Amino acid sequence: MPAKNDGATADYTEKIPNNVNLHEDRRLQRALESWQPNFLNWWQTMGPTLPTRDVYLRTAINVGRDGWAQFGHVAMPEYRWGIFLAERDPGRKVGFGEHKGEPVWDKVPGEYRAELQRLIVIQGDTEPASVEQQRNLGATAPSLYDLRNLFQVNVEEGRHLWAMVYLLHAYFGREGREEAEELLHRNSGSLDSPRILGAFNEETPDWLSFYMFTYFTDRDGKYQLGTLKESAFDPLSRTCEFMLKEEAHHMMVGTTGVDRVVQRTVEVMREHDTDDVAGLGAIPLPVIQKYLNFHYSVSLDLFGGETSTNVANYYTAGLKGRWLEDRRKDDHKLASDSIMVDALSEEGDIGLTEVSALVGLNTDLRREYISDCQGGVKRWNRILEEGGVRQRLKLPHIAFNRKVGAFAAIEATPDGEKLSADEWRRRQGEWLPADVDKTYVRSLMQPVHQRGKIAAWIAPPRNGINGQPFDYDYVHLA
Ligand SMILES: [Fe+2]
Ligand SMILES: [Fe+2]
Repeated sequence: MPAKNDGATADYTEKIPNNVNLHEDRRLQRALESWQPNFLNWWQTMGPTLPTRDVYLRTAINVGRDGWAQFGHVAMPEYRWGIFLAERDPGRKVGFGEHKGEPVWDKVPGEYRAELQRLIVIQGDTEPASVEQQRNLGATAPSLYDLRNLFQVNVEEGRHLWAMVYLLHAYFGREGREEAEELLHRNSGSLDSPRILGAFNEETPDWLSFYMFTYFTDRDGKYQLGTLKESAFDPLSRTCEFMLKEEAHHMMVGTTGVDRVVQRTVEVMREHDTDDVAGLGAIPLPVIQKYLNFHYSVSLDLFGGETSTNVANYYTAGLKGRWLEDRRKDDHKLASDSIMVDALSEEGDIGLTEVSALVGLNTDLRREYISDCQGGVKRWNRILEEGGVRQRLKLPHIAFNRKVGAFAAIEATPDGEKLSADEWRRRQGEWLPADVDKTYVRSLMQPVHQRGKIAAWIAPPRNGINGQPFDYDYVHLA
């Protein structure tokens, strides 16, 4: 019999690597082992399309402080997807809501079963969706370094699916197992059974979209996981805590990806002393701005409406907290607090209205996200400034291009000026990627699969992966 797991080190002797002592629960182990071939089948049919022999990937081995990953060349279908929960804090107490101060839950309370299952399914649905959205990008990777990062993000999103499926199998019985099957049957962009959330049915057709997606949309994931990490349901909290560790790399890929695109554009602008770099092999700043506008606005929609009684109930019940709940200086119950949320006035003007703090929690989270996003724009503008270029990038107004919430009913410019529907139709190509922009960006997407080489529209990275140089053999193609 395998040694009792200390909860920190992953057991790789088993079919499904895990740190949850899976071998002690034969029923659960068998159920997950019978889901495993379905997952692998999904990976083969909906995962990356570029054939590879092996990829230099990190694999989680330990959830503790002393290092958690190991790097090596692996054949992707043999990647050891596993189940890893952050270490248990035996003294952990519920941090908010009506159960504040009570011990956290190791099991799902009957009265919250449906809500918790729903939260887990929605989170779980986004993970394989992004793999599906990105599946064809390998064919046009700008370098082997970028190709490796794409695949790293893909295998880890696959592992995040495992994380949610483990919870469904372990805690939600037959219904949970059925939901786990459904997570493999819905597909991004499918007409019959699309993914649950809008942004996860959009295409990721080129690498500029990929960097914007990993910057803006993976960052939404960071904030959602941050609220679930606060959950009174301890296994959910511990799962999300570990997922956040992996998520940090995905956002690094996005942040530095956009850095490098901007950097290259600045270089070409200076070299040729022109703003018009289309035709010179770089991506013009106005096109970068349009891609930013698109990905930011669809990601804002992921936070839901400005007000939500469901989310108020989740909070009061202890299912889902706020971003960095324990750093908030209030009573963590919010029963008598209020918040100003975005709203349309009776005349249809963009403004604010006061609601109870509980009902306005989506707005609270969206604002945390927005201020985080400003950090990226700041660093990209520093690259422009240091390059001696006068143009700047910016986040569009919160009412721009929204399909969810108060501003779904109106159209607005990136500066927040209201527009008629007609004018919007006529002018949206000034602010969102138009066909001509997409066609141009796609024309640049020629694969560079030789070691140490890079496409002309993007600067090389400052650092390689795990201390390796840029010209390391990160990927061996088949
Ligand atoms: Fe994820
Ligand atoms: Fe991610």
